[in-house]
This record gives sequence, C-alpha cells and structure tokens, in this order.
Amino acid sequence: MKDLINKLYITNSLSFDELLYIIENISKQEDKDYLFEKARNTRYKHYENRVFLRGLIEISNYCKNDCYYCGIRCSNKNITRYRLTEKEILKCCDIGYEIGYRTFVLQGGEDSFLNDDIMCNIISSIKSKYPDCAITLSIGEKNYNSYERYFLSGADRFLLRHETSTDCHYKKLHPENLSLKNRKDCLKNLKEIGYQVGAGFMVGSPFQTNEDVVRDLMYLKELNPHMVGIGPFIPHHDTKFKDFPHGDLDKSIIILALTRLLLPKCLLPATTALASISENGRNLGLLAGCNVIMPNLSPHEFRKDYSLYDNKLSAGEEACEYHKSLEVSIKQLGLLVDYSRGDNIEWRRI
Ligand code: 5AD
Repeated sequence: MKDLINKLYITNSLSFDELLYIIENISKQEDKDYLFEKARNTRYKHYENRVFLRGLIEISNYCKNDCYYCGIRCSNKNITRYRLTEKEILKCCDIGYEIGYRTFVLQGGEDSFLNDDIMCNIISSIKSKYPDCAITLSIGEKNYNSYERYFLSGADRFLLRHETSTDCHYKKLHPENLSLKNRKDCLKNLKEIGYQVGAGFMVGSPFQTNEDVVRDLMYLKELNPHMVGIGPFIPHHDTKFKDFPHGDLDKSIIILALTRLLLPKCLLPATTALASISENGRNLGLLAGCNVIMPNLSPHEFRKDYSLYDNKLSAGEEACEYHKSLEVSIKQLGLLVDYSRGDNIEWRRI
C-alpha cells in the first residue's frame, strides 16, 4: 500500500487498477495517515498552509431539472421556492466584503427566470462595485454563448460537477433529458472560454461502484480542472433516493486525499456535505489535503429552503456569521486563513 501511495505522491498518477486497489484495500489507520500526510505535503508545495475562504450565496432554488438525488429538483412540491433580487445579492456581497471575502460564489438551480441578461447585470454590478473580487458561478448547464457572456461580464470561475463519469450510472441519477455528454461538453466549453473550472462528484451516490469512483478520478485527471468539488451523497426525504444511506465519511476523505495527489494544484473544498455528516468532517477534509471552505452568505430567511439534502448545515462555522470561530478552528489545525481571491496558481485571465 505504501509503495503505491509513494508512487502516486511522486508521479501524481496511477493506473485504473492501482487506484482501485487503494480504494478497496486501504484499511489500516497507519496507511490512511500516510496517505493524508502525503496529501498535506502536496498541498503545501503549491499553496503552503493556506485555506481559502469563499462566500456562498444561494441565489435561487428554482430548478427546471429533476435530478433524482437533489432536494430542489422541479418535481419536489414540498419546498418553498425563492429567488434573490440583484439588490439582495449585492447586500450579501456587502456583508461578505466587510468580513473579508474576496470571492463570491453565486449558486442556484437551473432557474429559467434568471436569463442571460439578468445574470450579466448581476455579475457586472458585483464586479463594478468590487473589482478586487472573484466571481464564481454555479448555475448549471448553459450553451457556449451564455457562458461566454457571463465571462465577458466578469465571472472568473464556474463550478459544474460532472456527478459521475460512467454513462449508465449517470442515467440512474438523472432523468432522460440530461446526458453525461452534454455535461462534459459544458466543462470543455467553460475551459475553452477561459474560466477556472470546477468538476466533481458525490461519494456513495446510489448505485455507485468503486469502479465508477476510479473512472471519476481518472476523468478528473484528464480534464485537469482548477477546482474539484467532492462530498458525500446525503439523502433528501422528498426524493426517490430518500432511503439510501449517506456516503461514508472515511471513504470521502480518502478520495479527497487521492484527488489532491492526482491534481496537486487544484483548489479543493472541504464541502458543506462533508461537514454535515460529521462534526469533524470539515477538519478531517482539511487534514487530507483540502484547501477551501465556502461559508454560507445567503440571507438567513432563505437558507432553510436551499435544501439539496437533509440536515444540510448552514449554521455554526458553515455560516459567515461564525467566521471568527471558523478562523480559530482552521488555525488550531496549524493552517492559515486566507481571505484573498485565491486563484488557482496556474490561471491568468486572458
Ligand atoms: N447529497 C449530496 N450532494 C448533493 N448535491 C445535490 N444533491 C445532493 C445530495 N442529495 C450536490 C451535487 C451538485 C451540488 C451543487 O450539490 O453534486 O452538483
């Protein structure tokens, strides 16, 4: 096991069978600790001990898609839908800027009301008020032209998890109108336009096999995104996956560490989902090579409605109000809180 971890540490790549071997056979705590140590060393080489903080603004929970795992899917009639106005979004940025955030992540369902004109207005308003801030979008699949317009309005980054890179698995998680091919095309377009791009997937989503996970890791290696979002699947009571168990904490952390070693320079958040399945989830992620935290900056009254899964944290250190306490936790791990834009070291706006 240690030989394989060393090989991964030195070459930043492994074969399908080697990755599968690690995932299926790493069981001794000593081996896991060795993997995490290598992941931390790798993070240190490129980003030292920095943990970048981003302010997450959940702009709308309207969604035209019906992804089987997601609480805000369109067929869920039991949630209260909301959409923030430009003014409300700017207010969130004001609060965030005051705390120190220099990245704002605008995330939402695929909300047809938020057309390109509206989105471009929101993006350029934030950019003209806060030119020193980065804007990350996470609003789903759009065509090349839309992505380009957002970029030209000032968006810098785009998060679009691929969810699974195995075609038949993709079909088990999504209705027929969505396809893995289109997801991958979107990611390719985003890269071509010049965004810092984030892909990723859930650990332990229904029907996922270890082979699927290895294909996900190999796809990430090939795509070479600037950011990677990986967190455990967590069931939502109003979805058809309500009775599936949540993804395993240990496995999630191992996969995060493997991702750090495969993509040494990536920005890798310890996700809210990870923090939501265990009190110690975020810290364990940070000790396994993660280097980003995205505290919630959404207006209080709407946070409960952005329910992608049950018991999603939006309070405590996952909320911007507790930034002091989050800073203490990060420092206690021997890491450095960094409020700067925190771009991927290989990216320049062209
Ligand atoms: N459990 C964990 N993560 C989820 N997401 C959506 N639903 C769930 C769930 N039930 C993730 C998806 C999506 C991101 C915004 O949230 O991976 O890309």
